[in-house]
Amino acid sequence: MLSNEELLKKALNMAENAYAPYSKFFVGACLLLEDGTVLGGCNVENASYGLSLCAERNALSSYKAQGLNSPIKKIAIACLNIKKCYPCGACRQWIKELAPDSLIVVEGDDGALEFSIEELLPKSFGL
Ligand code: THU
Repeated sequence: MLSNEELLKKALNMAENAYAPYSKFFVGACLLLEDGTVLGGCNVENASYGLSLCAERNALSSYKAQGLNSPIKKIAIACLNIKKCYPCGACRQWIKELAPDSLIVVEGDDGALEFSIEELLPKSFGL
């Protein structure tokens, strides 16, 4: 099983694929599934700014589109611009929906940090 550091490295590699000509903020996200599968996503921007897609939602969409059903264990997020790359509010809501038991991994000052979605999105909306 991959370490958090290895997963963050893969997320950083995904950030290299980001299409971010407007913000120039390059984000990558990697999902680690219970069965060991790793899949990633990067942010994809659009000239109509509001249509831009975040790396995390890109990765989570792929997970569903590929019909995968091994639960998502970890979601690592990394970006080329800053160290601590926390998920935005919309991505937190998506994580709550599709990967409620996952741990979110970001790079801290002294190595990887892990958070539950409950910590990042307390008292959240759900149906
Ligand atoms: N972005 C992500 O990919 N994930 C986040 O959680 C925060 C923001 C992207 C969206 C946009 O392309 C760029 O970063 C700047 O906001």
